[in-house]
Amino acid sequence: MKFPQFSMLPFLMVVVMLSLSGTTLSHPHWDFLHCLSLRLANYSTISKVIYVQNNPSYSSVLNASIHNTRFSTPATPKPFAIITPLKTSHVRSTLYCSKKHGFQLRIRSGGHDVEGLSYVSEVPFVILDLLNFRAIKVDTKNEVAWVQSGATLGELYYAIAAKTNTLAFPAGMCHTVGAGGHFSGGGYGTLFRKYGLAADNIIDARMIDVNGRILDRKSMGEDVFWAIRGGGGNTFGIVLAWKIKLVPVPAVVTVFTVNKNLEQNATKIFHRWQYIAHKLPDDLFMNVWITKVNSSQVGMKTVQATFRGMLLGGVDELITLIQDKFPELGLAEENCNEMSWLESVLYFGGLPLQSVDILLDKNALPTLSLKAKSDYVKEPIPESGIEGLMSMFLEEEADNAIAMIAAFGGKMDDIPENELPYPHRAGNLFEATYIVQWTKEENAESGKYISWSRRLYSYMTPYVSKSPREAYVNYRDLDLGINNNDYTSYEQASIWGFKYFKNNFKRLVQVKTKVDPMNFFRNEQSIPPLLSPWKKKGN
Ligand code: FDA
Repeated sequence: MKFPQFSMLPFLMVVVMLSLSGTTLSHPHWDFLHCLSLRLANYSTISKVIYVQNNPSYSSVLNASIHNTRFSTPATPKPFAIITPLKTSHVRSTLYCSKKHGFQLRIRSGGHDVEGLSYVSEVPFVILDLLNFRAIKVDTKNEVAWVQSGATLGELYYAIAAKTNTLAFPAGMCHTVGAGGHFSGGGYGTLFRKYGLAADNIIDARMIDVNGRILDRKSMGEDVFWAIRGGGGNTFGIVLAWKIKLVPVPAVVTVFTVNKNLEQNATKIFHRWQYIAHKLPDDLFMNVWITKVNSSQVGMKTVQATFRGMLLGGVDELITLIQDKFPELGLAEENCNEMSWLESVLYFGGLPLQSVDILLDKNALPTLSLKAKSDYVKEPIPESGIEGLMSMFLEEEADNAIAMIAAFGGKMDDIPENELPYPHRAGNLFEATYIVQWTKEENAESGKYISWSRRLYSYMTPYVSKSPREAYVNYRDLDLGINNNDYTSYEQASIWGFKYFKNNFKRLVQVKTKVDPMNFFRNEQSIPPLLSPWKKKGN
């Protein structure tokens, strides 16, 4: 009997592992596993890094970062393997073997992609899950930090606050969102009127390109560095970590909430808000959530506008400001709370205020099924238009729907449209994200909820941006169009490309063509290169 060569041992161990688990695999799958196991080299690493279907932990690893249960049904296409690298060489090996054996790679950081693009694909694929890439190094002296892509925003905010309560980072409000996807698409939260987007505050990055080279800002060049800060994830390479600029915040900020329903003049107050909110000082963040709630009349429903905000300052200053500029809101001291900036993350994230440790818990909030769409609004919507919007929230499908409306202005007006791929800057009164949600158990009826969101979107047409009708890439909407499995023309991708990026789309295509001409990094709405190989072959 001939003993296997030493270099074959890890692979044979994987074979044994798979046979024990009952997995049946075809050639390309074996080839991929063979390739990867040879490169990972030892059994203990392999067992911590490779999860194939039927591995007892496969489902829990897959589901751990699914934040839209619309994409966790038995019919949802599943990855043949999930790879959870422990170090950079594992990421490079996964890239190498996926390319070599023809598997599409879906990069996952926090897993909040609203269309599930980081963990679902119609073609054979593997997930590169960065759940072990969560290190955060905060340097308060230089007011910078390095954050790995798999870290959540909650972990980032927590790490900063562990060192100082007068520095923060201007990113999103949901603590479980991952840095990797969020920064790749822009990222905004309660500090964006003061400091801009998360992407506006990134000063370096560590990325692996399609050839497996590890690049930083200098070696990737300014074009690529520009593209990865807002051009959308899974397109230019695998971003391992980001260097970010921290921003000053006072030790005490003031948050507030005022609820107004239809019987309390919600329509008129929201109408007025549109004229005021974007002009308020940039120390103030303000948003409005429109939802269906119980009415004061038993058994009846109404629609509520929840006006929320945060001032980088004290309660007296806030009340004086709002009473002066927006007295219609009727803001009173009992609507306000002073707290640290970190606590304000709990407040806006809908988390209990008791302990900031909850920011480290990825499962602190229930996960639902959802569909999202977004709009930018440049002219105030007339009262009659708002009435129609409100009445759509009284429909049956809108029980768990929200229109999340965030006032723009401030710093966003000062940043040129082409500074980064994210183009929605001066001239916007607000961004509106419409989210309709339902439970996993209701997935069979998802069609009715999705068609409600399409009707709402269609209803909003006269009131929102035009030519193009702009949209926020971080709230991806595949209704806007998708890439073909093989070649996608510039014209076809322009349909959604210009909505997300306006004229920046052209530069994104140029960068993509240069750094990934064979279009290895791709998903349904990634930026296509010009003259892809399929086109060259004349297909
Ligand atoms: P996920 O891991 O799913 O990645 C999203 C996309 O980026 C995918 O295409 C993925 O392949 C790619 N990607 C991920 N990591 C990458 C990497 N390291 N390198 C290259 N590509 C990578 N937005 C906002 O601006 N403000 C907010 O307050 C919120 N709040 C919010 C709440 C909830 C509940 C949801 C579901 C979404 C939001 N968002 C948001 C939108 C959010 O910013 C957006 O979905 C991000 O892309 C999510 O990033 P994740 O890393 O979590 O997702």
